[in-house]
Amino acid sequence: MTSARFRAGFESLLSESSGVKLAWQGAPPAWLAGDLLRTGPAMFEVGAKHYRHWFDGLAMLHRFALAQDGVGYTNRFLHSQSYQAASEGRKVARGEFATNSQDSYLTRVRATFAGNTTDNGNVNVVAYGDNDFVALTEVPNPVRFDRETLATDGAFGWTDDLKSHVTTAHPHYDFRRRMIYNCDILFHQPSLYRFTRMAFGSAERQSVTEIAVDRPAYMHSFGMSENHLILVEFPLVTNPIRLLLSGRPFIETYRWKPERGLKFTVIHKDSGAVVRSASTDACFGFHLVNAFEQDGSVVIDLIAYDDAAIVRSFYLDTLRAGGGTVTGTLTRFTIPLGSGAVVRETLSDDRLELPNFDYRQRAGCAYRYLWAAGQHGDGFMNRLQKYDLQTRGVVIWEAPCCYPGEPVFVASPNAEAEDDGVVLSVVMDSAKNQSFLLVLDAATLSERARAWTPYVIPFGFHGCHYAEAPLAA
Ligand SMILES: [Fe+2]
Repeated sequence: MTSARFRAGFESLLSESSGVKLAWQGAPPAWLAGDLLRTGPAMFEVGAKHYRHWFDGLAMLHRFALAQDGVGYTNRFLHSQSYQAASEGRKVARGEFATNSQDSYLTRVRATFAGNTTDNGNVNVVAYGDNDFVALTEVPNPVRFDRETLATDGAFGWTDDLKSHVTTAHPHYDFRRRMIYNCDILFHQPSLYRFTRMAFGSAERQSVTEIAVDRPAYMHSFGMSENHLILVEFPLVTNPIRLLLSGRPFIETYRWKPERGLKFTVIHKDSGAVVRSASTDACFGFHLVNAFEQDGSVVIDLIAYDDAAIVRSFYLDTLRAGGGTVTGTLTRFTIPLGSGAVVRETLSDDRLELPNFDYRQRAGCAYRYLWAAGQHGDGFMNRLQKYDLQTRGVVIWEAPCCYPGEPVFVASPNAEAEDDGVVLSVVMDSAKNQSFLLVLDAATLSERARAWTPYVIPFGFHGCHYAEAPLAA
């Protein structure tokens, strides 16, 4: 089997650092401060056992403390229960996305029923309060950590009694209502999608609405406009009985059923009422970009794939051999809130993933710019791209042997233009066998600065730039 040029990004990183000072090459803008906090898988083996899928690896947190005289870099494994049980038992102790635990069939089934599943927060890091940071995976078991040291601080304790089996690691923030929304799934007969809201700084979720479903879809994210939550059901669906009893890894109980089409359910945030249900031809996706209300419709942009083959292409054997080509395209769906058909429009034929925009100012609102990791040619994501949705203009950053991760937009203070700021991305340079934090001018994608990290940082998923009080009004 051939080995990918970018293979180092899919190998374990066992080294940890605490406050290592990284020098800038170039000069970031004088206003750049705060922290870039990120998570991603970094340990792909325990004992003699290998995790099978990119989404399975044990989580490592990364903190880039941004200052004029350099970057303070800290990276530390998330000491989740999954990590601790794996470390102590030298085995895969909790079932992950595509890897079973090494427990017996009966123990695994009992754990699934009891919701005693993974808390391996390798997908996203978010703030529930100004001093309350958690690492998330697609199970409602957030793990708290200290923002400065990245030390794990135990399970986040919900104070409600809402039980579910899975959730998204992409909660939405409504800064006007000061609410955090998410969507959970309870596997049952029938199963339920449950949208929840939780006030900033609280630990008590309330149900916005529950929607019964016979075959729940795999759901990585959902949409939010100013007044609505949007459930997007791609037709990669599971039979809850199979999921609970088959003993197969979570994602391997899902089946691609394109005849079910792509279903949108639009829910009013405050009343919980279903405002519109509509279907159109099937596609698959992980990431919804943004949604907004316009002329009596809800407009939702997402990264659309023809089918769910991308999930299989992210098995580690495939990625390490050079597969994993991203084929998603930026696609807009317009859903009339009254009657009328869903309109689909491909906004760009470029292949991209990990979209980002000025979330703080534009989430749920009309927006003009987005940034994403893009892919040109074979291999893996190898460029960053900026899209102007008004002019359809594209700007690209790329460099030889460089594989960037999610671009994170940071607005400059007192910004007037929507693209006034910088974009931060952790990039793996396969020629130097090292990663760096890249700072680009968000408008032009010209390089402002970079800071080399001590080693290759495995390809991660998501993170956020946080100012001192991230949820302050
Ligand atoms: Fe994601």
